[in-house]
Amino acid sequence: MSKETIKIFDTTLRDGEQSPGASMNTEEKIQIASQLERLGVDIIEAGFAAASLGDFDAISKISQRVTNSTVCSLARAIDSDIKAAGDAIASAKMQRIHTFIATSPIHMEHKLKMSSDEVIARAVRAVEYARSFVDDVEFSCEDAGRSEMSFLKEITDAVIEAGATTINLPDTVGFRLPQEIGAMVKEMSQYTKGRAIISVHNHNDLGLGVANSLESVINGARQIECTINGLGERAGNAALEEIVMALKLRSDIFGDYVTNINTKEIYPSSRLIANITGIEPQPNKAIVGKNAFAHESGIHQDGMLKNKSTYEIIRPEDIGLDIEDTLVLGKHSGRAAFKDKLSKLGFTLDDDELNRAFERFKELADKKKEIYDDDIRALATSQMANVTKIFELVSLQIMDCSNGVPSSAITIRHNDQEITDAGIGDGTMDAIFKTIDRISGYQGRLMEYRVKSVSKGKDALANVTVKVTFNENQPAMIGHGLSLDTMLASARAYIGALNSYLSMEGMLKLRGGDSGDTI
Ligand code: KIV
Ligand code: ZN
Repeated sequence: MSKETIKIFDTTLRDGEQSPGASMNTEEKIQIASQLERLGVDIIEAGFAAASLGDFDAISKISQRVTNSTVCSLARAIDSDIKAAGDAIASAKMQRIHTFIATSPIHMEHKLKMSSDEVIARAVRAVEYARSFVDDVEFSCEDAGRSEMSFLKEITDAVIEAGATTINLPDTVGFRLPQEIGAMVKEMSQYTKGRAIISVHNHNDLGLGVANSLESVINGARQIECTINGLGERAGNAALEEIVMALKLRSDIFGDYVTNINTKEIYPSSRLIANITGIEPQPNKAIVGKNAFAHESGIHQDGMLKNKSTYEIIRPEDIGLDIEDTLVLGKHSGRAAFKDKLSKLGFTLDDDELNRAFERFKELADKKKEIYDDDIRALATSQMANVTKIFELVSLQIMDCSNGVPSSAITIRHNDQEITDAGIGDGTMDAIFKTIDRISGYQGRLMEYRVKSVSKGKDALANVTVKVTFNENQPAMIGHGLSLDTMLASARAYIGALNSYLSMEGMLKLRGGDSGDTI
């Protein structure tokens, strides 16, 4: 008997980006989308086109790049949102618009302040309008988990009639237990009788996102929405890696189904997203946590030495972990070895990027004894993320602040000119950021600052993430900086955020909008 395919709909770039602190810039989103394509996800939800110009731009660029996965944009059931979504995905080879409206009594009464008839009318209009852009339209009954079954059926009939091809039933607030979700999915699958694909989207507020998704498959769902590392709003979404590995490993239960996921790309995907967002999976996180394959107790280690199957249900190589954690390259490694390592880790850099990344690798290898895969990943990620170089840090000097006033002297390249200035602050970091403000003429307000060490050792690279507001009417900008020196990494991150802000301003001018506009 031929197996049925469970479609994997990845929403790391949309719901995942709604995780506090997980915002990404356009270049980073493009890298993630390319990795998701390598991973084999069927649908990439690349963002919410109407949310901001940055989202729109990222979705458009992803649409130009990705060819093997469908590219999707979220849209509220509002004409302007749907138009933005349709325009943003216009150049994608395979396109989907995902529109939604809330269907639970609590949302309709308090949030939408609409009657159920009005909600149906709005949903139908949205789907019909979306169909004027694309053939593949997904409709989500937001808060389906707390909606009435009779209303779910009524609105589903109406939107299928209007042209929806997938009906998504989100447990938006992560409230339901597996048997409840299973019962809802079963009833809706039997009711729709193949007129549309039934999809689920489970949040993890009770830690049940994955269990609810698996139960949904048993009961008729043929699309699962999920995120890498379980990122997402509040407690996150169901984790892609856990769902896919459970489906694969437990063929005794799920043997009738397959996914298109290349599981060897799971670990590289998880690392890329952790590096870019700065959000590490908890160490004991299933499948991709740092300890997921670590055997600490003597009894376990003894068993593992005798036969791995005593304590290991997943082979690390099945998720792409076999090339990990090896001491990779050293200062004598050449460009070819470096390029080969990058491609094994899933990075394809163009010649210029490769040359610059190799230069930085050589600088690093001179100072750092042991270089790990995570160091290489961080180098490549930061190389590709910081392509806009309106302002470029040339040098940074900080003065001893143990007794005197913290101060910094900085040289920045701008328009082929080097500008040097010095400044003081309440602390060294404050002095650095204020000096950059003086040189650039832009005043940033630091909203968030995070530092994380990449790989291990006292000489580990510092990966700094900042979120900075340069204009109160614009969303805050994210910047990443990488260096063996935390202060240098902080300066790079701050300048990265400034460059993202300026390229966004440039885009606004090109499109004739003013800074306050969203699409
Ligand atoms: O959780 C949710 O309901 C959503 C919808 C927009 C699908 O993210
Ligand atoms: Zn959601």
